[in-house]
Amino acid sequence: MNNSEVILNNEDVVKMLDSLLREPAPFWNEFYTDREKKIPFFLNLPDENLVNYFEKGLLKPGKVLELGSGPGRNALYLARQGCEVDAVDLSQEAIQWGKERALENKLNVHFINNDIFNMEVKEGSYDLVYDSGCFHHIAPHRRMSYIDLLHKAIKPNGFFSLICFVAGGRLGGSEISDWEVYRLRSLNGGLGYTEERLKTIFKDFQLVEMRKMEVLDEESSLFGYPDLWTVLFKKVSL
Ligand SMILES: C[S@@+](CC[C@H](N)C(=O)[O-])C[C@H]1O[C@@H](n2cnc3c(N)ncnc32)[C@H](O)[C@@H]1O
Repeated sequence: MNNSEVILNNEDVVKMLDSLLREPAPFWNEFYTDREKKIPFFLNLPDENLVNYFEKGLLKPGKVLELGSGPGRNALYLARQGCEVDAVDLSQEAIQWGKERALENKLNVHFINNDIFNMEVKEGSYDLVYDSGCFHHIAPHRRMSYIDLLHKAIKPNGFFSLICFVAGGRLGGSEISDWEVYRLRSLNGGLGYTEERLKTIFKDFQLVEMRKMEVLDEESSLFGYPDLWTVLFKKVSL
């Protein structure tokens, strides 16, 4: 009998469910090896909604944690606005690319190569947690830990902002149920969400703004693609 395959607690269940799905680090490392690939988010452009939050004064410079930052296009924008940024990604390739970009742009971003579920977070230490495109790659059984992480990391009255696939959208956004993920042993490229689903999942946060990302042309200095939800939540004390 394999002693490492014994289920004694909830953590063991989570690990067992992880093992049914693709290992994320090798996949994402391979994904970032060719930096010339025509991937929209490989361009060093910040999300249009993020720029809009700062322009409207909804967000102000502060301490930021970016989850699944990739090579840091939003982290670099946030640093340019005067934020102190911790940018986490499990891909070593992405983190290396991000560090090079920060150096080229003379910006200070603290890039961290880790899984968001393994890192140490100090209680109530961030004004903003930002996630552009990571959450929809998180398996359903990890969602509770994701929400716990938000509650732990964000200060009272701090913010959480999310960009994720619209269900059945043009960029992705699979419409399979949570249970189907485990029957198929796949997230089918990333889970799609409806407005109602997101409101239910993040019900403990106060909704500030939720809309689809504005679609921008190729000449734009901002990132704007179709069928992505852009959401800003506030952490209110219960
Ligand atoms: C679609 S990419 C988005 C990258 C970046 N946010 C952007 O928009 O340019 C998703 C990123 O999430 C990262 N990721 C996925 N699961 C993660 C986890 N559990 N911990 C840390 N990073 C993760 C991947 O390595 C990848 O870089």
